Amino acid sequence: MPTSTGLSRPLRGHTVSLRRRILKAALGALAAGVVLPSFAADPLKIGLILPLTGPFASTGKQIEAACRLYMKQNGDTVAGRKVELIVKDDTGLAPETTKRIAQELVVNEKVQILAGFGLTPLALATAPIATESKTPMIVMAAATSIITTKSPYIVRTGFTLPQVTGPIAEWAAKNKIKNVVTLVTDYGPGLDAEKTFVKRFTDAGGKVVESLRVPLRNPDYGPFLQRAKDARPDALFVFVPSGEGTAVMKEFNDRGLKAAGIQMIGTGDVVDDDLLESMGPVAVGVVTSFHYSAAHDSPENKAYVDAFMKANGFRPNFHSLGGYDGMHLIYEAVKKAGANADGDKLVEAMKGMKWVSPRGPMMIDPATRDPIQNVYVRKVEMVNGKPWSIEFEKFENVKDPGA
Ligand code: PHB
Repeated sequence: MPTSTGLSRPLRGHTVSLRRRILKAALGALAAGVVLPSFAADPLKIGLILPLTGPFASTGKQIEAACRLYMKQNGDTVAGRKVELIVKDDTGLAPETTKRIAQELVVNEKVQILAGFGLTPLALATAPIATESKTPMIVMAAATSIITTKSPYIVRTGFTLPQVTGPIAEWAAKNKIKNVVTLVTDYGPGLDAEKTFVKRFTDAGGKVVESLRVPLRNPDYGPFLQRAKDARPDALFVFVPSGEGTAVMKEFNDRGLKAAGIQMIGTGDVVDDDLLESMGPVAVGVVTSFHYSAAHDSPENKAYVDAFMKANGFRPNFHSLGGYDGMHLIYEAVKKAGANADGDKLVEAMKGMKWVSPRGPMMIDPATRDPIQNVYVRKVEMVNGKPWSIEFEKFENVKDPGA
């Protein structure tokens, strides 16, 4: 094996840096317009970059399943072009890896569209690739407000944290919750959630007694929940990225916060539908605000949940909608802008696009390229022996207010 000899290491390093230089030069050429036009007969290649392994694998699993379901239901041809999904696992851990995969997809595979992006740092690292190569970049999961400002080619089909946090702050203030401890994961979306919650809850007359931040990598929730309990608040506001909810809920139970009568509130990430069934009765009673629950009561959602569960054997979560609606946006933009449209024309076609999603009505804000959508306040209840987030209040057409 050449890689096991001492000699091969510098050679390998050289090869990698050379490859980087070639990729960079190729990106420059693409941006300068030195690119062969695509023809209707060429496949429309979509590079879908997702965490399919590692701590955030549930995000990748949900989005890939939803994209495939969309293609199964709507065909693998749009405006006469065959759609080819090229799925890559970035493991969710290193922004440089996501960026490199995006670069390779654009230069070597000649994808016309980049999509996916499970976490904020991964989307932020890739933004310059979208800009340099003029490739539309559909952010299906990452939810820090600033992401769409980082490239004019980014369009988001998920949500933003400030967008979904405001409603729970208002609900809490109106429902006898006076003192709150906030607990967020210490990176972009957590900081957006903390800032929005503190402002909206304080403006509505509430008091945030303590703000706790947990590291993104290898979090140990126990000591933080103990500290929250010791502060004796009426409620604990939680934002953690999807995939982490079960660990938080376990400590909430084990440390006796639930028994002490502390109400858990938060954004819906903590009671993510992918994990909710495995959390057990401790989740019952948790009140969150969010743009999607698998229990959303509409004919479109019933059809979506049935088809998704039939195809995959598990419940769709909110990230799946980022994928499903992202595919819808791509298909409709290609139909509208034409089979040979370039990146600029596709993004123009996406701006202002409106449709009815399984989550409810949805529009891409033409000014920010972020989704405008309803946000619901929901409570976890047992229905037919299983926990679901049941929506009971609606905030209509909420825009990202910025952080
Ligand atoms: C993010 O990294 O932006 C992110 C990931 C998972 C979530 C929310 C936000 O549930």
